[in-house]
Amino acid sequence: MVRMEPVIRPFRPADTEAVVALWESCGLVRPWNDPRRDIARKATVQPELFLVATDQEAVVAAGMAGFDGHRGWVNYLAVSPERQGGGLGRRLMREFERLLTDLGCPKLNLQVRAGNEQVIAFYESLGYADDHTVSFGKRLIHDDAP
Ligand SMILES: CC(C)(COP(=O)(O)OP(=O)(O)OC[C@H]1O[C@@H](n2cnc3c(N)ncnc32)[C@H](O)[C@@H]1OP(=O)(O)O)[C@@H](O)C(=O)NCCC(=O)NCCS
Repeated sequence: MVRMEPVIRPFRPADTEAVVALWESCGLVRPWNDPRRDIARKATVQPELFLVATDQEAVVAAGMAGFDGHRGWVNYLAVSPERQGGGLGRRLMREFERLLTDLGCPKLNLQVRAGNEQVIAFYESLGYADDHTVSFGKRLIHDDAP
C-alpha cells in the first residue's frame, strides 16, 4: 500500500482535543497557559494561520502563526513524538514562511525556552539565527485565575 504524506490544513474546532493532547505529549503546555483558551483566542485572530498536519485523520503536528504588521510569529509548534525527525516540523515551518511572506511579513520571530538545545538545532537547520535579544513578557489575562 502506498503510504501518503501527512496533509497540512487549517485547524478545525473538532481538532481541539487532539491538538491539546499533542501539545501535552510534546511538553508544551504550562500551568499558566490554558491551551483551550489559547485555541479559542486564535480562532478570533488570523485563524487561517493555525495549521495542523494529519495522517489518516489523526493530528500528527500543529502550530500557530500570526503577523502583527511588523513581525511574524510562530508558537506551539509540535510534532508528535513518534513522528519527530521525519521532516514534518520542517514542512510546517516552510508553510508558515510561505503564508507569512504572502502577507508581506518581512521577518519571522519565535521564542525557544532557554536550554531547549534540540529545538535550537532544529531552527538553526532551517536558517534561523539567535537574535541575541532578551525576551520580555507581561501577562495581561491570567488563565489560571478562578
Ligand atoms: C522541534 C520539532 C517541532 C521539530 O520537528 P521535527 O519534525 O522533529 O523536525 P524535522 O524532522 O523536520 O527536522 C528538520 C531538521 O532539523 C534538525 N533537527 C531536528 N531535530 C533535531 C534534533 N533533535 N537535534 C538536532 N537537529 C535536529 C535536523 O537538521 C533536521 O534535518 P535532517 O532531518 O535533514 O537532519 C519537534 O521535534 C517537536 O515537536 N519537539 C517538541 C516540542 C517543541 O519543543 N517545540 C518547539 C517549541 S519552540
